[in-house]
Formats: sequence, C-alpha cells, structure tokens
Amino acid sequence: MKNIIVTGGAGFIGSNFVHYVVKHHPEVHVTVLDKLTYAGNRENLAGLPTDRVELIVGDIADAQLVNRLVAKADAVVHYAAESHNDNSLQDPSPFIQTNLVGTFTLLEACRLNGVRFHHVSTDEVYGDLPLREDLPGHGEGPGEKFTDHTPYNPSSPYSASKAGSDLLVRAWVRSFGLQATISNCSNNYGPYQHIEKFIPRQITNILSGERPKLYGDGKNVRDWIHTEDHSAAVWRILTKGQIGETYLIGADGEKDNKTVLELILQLMGKDPKDYDHVNDRPGHDLRYAIDATKLKDELGWQPQFTDFEEGLADTIKWYTENREWWQAEKAAVEAKYAKSGQ
Ligand SMILES: NC(=O)c1ccc[n+]([C@@H]2O[C@H](COP(=O)([O-])OP(=O)(O)OC[C@H]3O[C@@H](n4cnc5c(N)ncnc54)[C@H](O)[C@@H]3O)[C@@H](O)[C@H]2O)c1
Repeated sequence: MKNIIVTGGAGFIGSNFVHYVVKHHPEVHVTVLDKLTYAGNRENLAGLPTDRVELIVGDIADAQLVNRLVAKADAVVHYAAESHNDNSLQDPSPFIQTNLVGTFTLLEACRLNGVRFHHVSTDEVYGDLPLREDLPGHGEGPGEKFTDHTPYNPSSPYSASKAGSDLLVRAWVRSFGLQATISNCSNNYGPYQHIEKFIPRQITNILSGERPKLYGDGKNVRDWIHTEDHSAAVWRILTKGQIGETYLIGADGEKDNKTVLELILQLMGKDPKDYDHVNDRPGHDLRYAIDATKLKDELGWQPQFTDFEEGLADTIKWYTENREWWQAEKAAVEAKYAKSGQ
C-alpha cells in the first residue's frame, strides 16, 4: 500500500492518523482530501514532509474530483464527516450531505476503480447502554458492552447519518464485492481536537479564565481512547483486517463526564468543584462501552496509551502551548453554546 487517500485528514482524528502514518510507515504517500470546513485546519498538517503528504482542498461529495484522485490510489481511509452531535441538533442537513452523500460518492469511486476502502465510524451508531450500576453484571456481563453484533439504534442526526454510512459500506461489500472494512471507535482525546468538543472545551475555558461547563448531572459515561491508539488500530485493520468485517475499537476507558471535568480542573491546579452545571443535551446518550476483543484476538492490536491521567495531562499541555491554534475561535464557540444555555 504505497498511495493512500485520507479523507478528513485535516480534522482531529484524521490529522493524527496522517502524523501516525508519516512517522511509522515511511514507504507510504498520503493524499489528504479535506474541504476545510470550520472543523478542518491546514495547520494540523504543518511540519509534515511535503513529498510525503499532499493536501487537496475539496469535497468528498464532488464525484469528478473524487474519481480522479481515487483512480491513482491504492486505498481510501475515510475520516471526513460532520462530527459534532450538538451541531446536528441545530442543523442536520450538512450531516446528511457529507456523511451519507459524501460516503456514497467515495464508495462509487472505489467500486469503479477497484480500490480498497476503510470506513471510520463511531460507537454512537449503537445508541447507548444503561449505566453500570443499573446492570445485573455491573457492565461486565454478556451484552453489557457494544460488540459488532449489537443492533444499530442511533439517537441523534449525527449518529443516524454515521449509521447510514456504515450500512452503505456493508451493501457495497455484499452487492459489488467492494474491498472494504469498517471500524467503530469510542470517544477520542488528544491534540488537534476542535474546541467545541467536551475535553478541549473545558481545558480552553480554564485557560481563558472562564468557568468550565458540565451538561446535566455529569453521570453520562464515555469510553475514552487516546487518538494514537485509534490510529494504530485503523492501520492494523487497513493492512490486516478481513474484507467485509467490522471491528470495534476501544481501550476500556469508561469515565463519567463529571469525573473527567474534575480531573481536568485538578490537573490544571484548580478547585475540582469550580464549574457550572448547564442544560443537558437533548437525547443525551447515557453510556458507551466497547468490547474490543475481536480486534485484539484476531488482529493482535493492543492499546498503548491507557494511562488516562497522563494522556489528559499531555493534552492539557498541548492546548496550553498552542493557544494560537484555538484562541481566535474561542469566543464564537462559547457564544454558540450560550444560545442553548450550555
Ligand atoms: N471524535 C471522536 O471521538 C470520534 C470517535 C469515533 C469515530 N469518529 C469518526 O472519526 C471521523 C473524524 O472525526 P473527527 O472528530 O476527527 O472530526 P472533525 O470534525 O475534527 O474533522 C472532520 C474533518 O472532515 C472534513 N470534512 C467535513 N466535511 C467534508 C467534506 N464534505 N469533504 C471533505 N472533507 C470534509 C473537515 O474539514 C474536517 O477536517 C468521523 O468520521 C467521526 O465520525 C470520531
């Protein structure tokens, strides 16, 4: 695999994947196809060798452009998406356009050109799980975490559009023999994440002298994984995964939002109780938890960055040292949240 296209490679997880490939696989050339929406930033690729990484600014729903690029590639790794739940509640239309029509456009180009496709998706397609304390096995019994057999049950326009895109990929494998795999990952954290998202929002609130904000009672649980571990898993699936299979990626990182926020405050030398409770997200999923046994047993992947406190401290350091990356957008992001009392 010498030439790969990474869609959404100027966003959070996509750019971390591009850095990962450049560092670990010197034989690979990466073409990033990214529309540079509000969530994309060419600075995320700054410093990477220009003979190894090329940024094409364009839309994954532009069939002509996509066909031209895919015809020269060995594989497409598809990260591009509208990715923020809260935005999908305000205006779902770009989610349908990019996540469904955009994915369809890529699938057609890969079908016509016989190109390998890897689809990056989310555990949110499965809906949510009850909190551990409400389960007979306290979250460890059979069926108490997501597996690739869990029925789809998305809650928001974002997760519904991702669920739809996963099903398109499955249909293209079955009906057209497309050489494709799918991965559904839990919540990522690390550098380059847009400050609208929970962890960077709170870190940058504190750095800006604003009080952090917690949705509802903060009991909602997310299963955190460091973005480096996600990148390594995607590479493993791309190169060793069984065609047609779905792999769930997670690192046993379940934590409720309140615990994460209080840890951020503590790591930043603040009083851990010094935050405001704000309106909850409508339809807010209660708990996500991934069973990654299949990926570990069949492809030998293991997460390496499992010390959450250390990973969080590194992430705080990154936002502290890269103020120019986020500062200009901070006021607008907070003004948007303020409109919905969040
Ligand atoms: N963030 C997470 O915790 C998480 C977890 C699991 C899966 N995912 C999935 O990983 C992928 C990347 O997520 P992220 O958090 O990095 O998102 P992001 O919003 O940070 O980045 C998305 C990127 O896609 C680009 N993009 C958007 N629409 C486009 C279009 N029409 N054409 C070309 N480029 C376009 C944006 O410019 C941006 O660079 C998404 O598919 C998401 O569903 C994310």
